[in-house]
Amino acid sequence: MYKINAETAIFFHERLYKPLAKIAQDYVKQRKLDNTTLKAFKIGYSGNYNELYNHLISKGFKENEILATGLVNKNDNGEYIDRFRKRLMFPIMDVNSKVVAFGGRRLENNDKIAKYINSNENLVYSKKKHLFALNLAKHSDSKKIILVEGYMDAISLHQRGITNAVASLGTALTEEQGRLIRKYSEQVVFSYDSDGAGQEAIKRGLEVLESQGCDARVLQMEGAKDPDEYIIKYGSGRFNLLVENAISLVEFKIKVLKQKYNLDNANDKIKFLKEITRILAKIDNNIEREIYIDKISKQYNISKEAIYGEVNKTLYKESNSNSSANILSRQAVNKEEVKSDISDSQLKRENVIIYLLINHLEESFEEIIKNISTNDFKNELNRRIFEIILENINAGQDKIVSSISNIEDENLQAHVSTIMVSDYEITSVKKCIEDIIVTYNKDKLISRKMEIIKELENPNLSKEQAYGLEQELNNIIIELAKNK
Ligand code: CTP
Ligand code: MN
Repeated sequence: MYKINAETAIFFHERLYKPLAKIAQDYVKQRKLDNTTLKAFKIGYSGNYNELYNHLISKGFKENEILATGLVNKNDNGEYIDRFRKRLMFPIMDVNSKVVAFGGRRLENNDKIAKYINSNENLVYSKKKHLFALNLAKHSDSKKIILVEGYMDAISLHQRGITNAVASLGTALTEEQGRLIRKYSEQVVFSYDSDGAGQEAIKRGLEVLESQGCDARVLQMEGAKDPDEYIIKYGSGRFNLLVENAISLVEFKIKVLKQKYNLDNANDKIKFLKEITRILAKIDNNIEREIYIDKISKQYNISKEAIYGEVNKTLYKESNSNSSANILSRQAVNKEEVKSDISDSQLKRENVIIYLLINHLEESFEEIIKNISTNDFKNELNRRIFEIILENINAGQDKIVSSISNIEDENLQAHVSTIMVSDYEITSVKKCIEDIIVTYNKDKLISRKMEIIKELENPNLSKEQAYGLEQELNNIIIELAKNK
């Protein structure tokens, strides 16, 4: 069967250069395919009636062998009819460049005729196991594979230097095709037609690849219906930019969802938020989840608190219904973590520190200055008071009180009085300090975490820097989970 397929490919290809193939020659010119491409892909022109059958017989192949390939059929009258007639022929090759099947495109501009006819499955060809052009793409220097739908897309990209393109030939990517890709690359970029009909197919394809450990992304294309049209119109430089900016499955799902809603409408926005929450809650990796929440908040103008709040609800429900859930990896994010300005509880905490330092100096100062520095105070007045206390710490409590009283600042004096007359219900100074320090350390971790998430968005980060930051972030998340 391999021999018959190989002989057939040569027959079709040589025929393309004969005068009788004018219609096919005009067509490839119109589609801007150059001669190198025609040769590399062994593109051809099929004959009429039973020309292939006669050719194969003349080459010594037997009738039953030829019929088994599906390239020729026998009708009720016992006549032989070639399957592919007067079509532009694309041989489908396996990874070792052996021809296993064919696709044939109609040349007439007539919607009544099928645009493509393909080989039926046979001994050497199973549609769901092959990828068109993988035999060439596997030699590409690129780490990525670009997955397109059609023969013409793959061919057109190769001709313009994108030699890592392969085509799934109009079907949703199968498990088998996924495994095949995975052998050659860990990064796959879907570049399917922009008609929207394929969104479900893309989602499924991405899921297939992700479940096999691939980093799968979706290219976003505007201004052309498919990669072939795009690269002819805008060139390979711009196509490569699209590849670089391809989005992940999560982002893609959210983008698809967004099309269902009008985010200017409050009700829609709430529904949208609830739906994206389900997607976000499924992400096992904390770092990834937080990065997405950050991005989504900016992109769709939804507050982070709202997103965290919803995600937490969902995670909480899940962890209650699934006791074996890995609590560490699915740790919910504290709502407080995202507030940047000083909250009531933070202010109270600062006030208590000042209160303790003034009223219980001996018992408290060592622990406090070991763990808390001036910059930890968010409230300006508290920060100033803390500085004065630090300056006078060795002179004792009386000196501290008189230094503070001597400052001529009404606001500051009022603030100190508020602290002094407040009843903080402190039963044990030691316990109170411990609690505060734990919370402070947690706060520090949280703000460092937010910083890292921001830093990770910097496109100029080197791999090593990003890795370092991710490690640090992971440690912080683990640390925070311990203190829950
Ligand atoms: N296909 C098919 N039968 C059809 C239509 C499509 O087998 N009737 C498959 C082919 O493998 C085709 C792919 O689906 O390559 C994608 O379809 P389409 O985008 O229409 O084809 P293109 O390769 O883009 O071809 P062209 O640009 O010539 O229309
Ligand atoms: Mn096309």
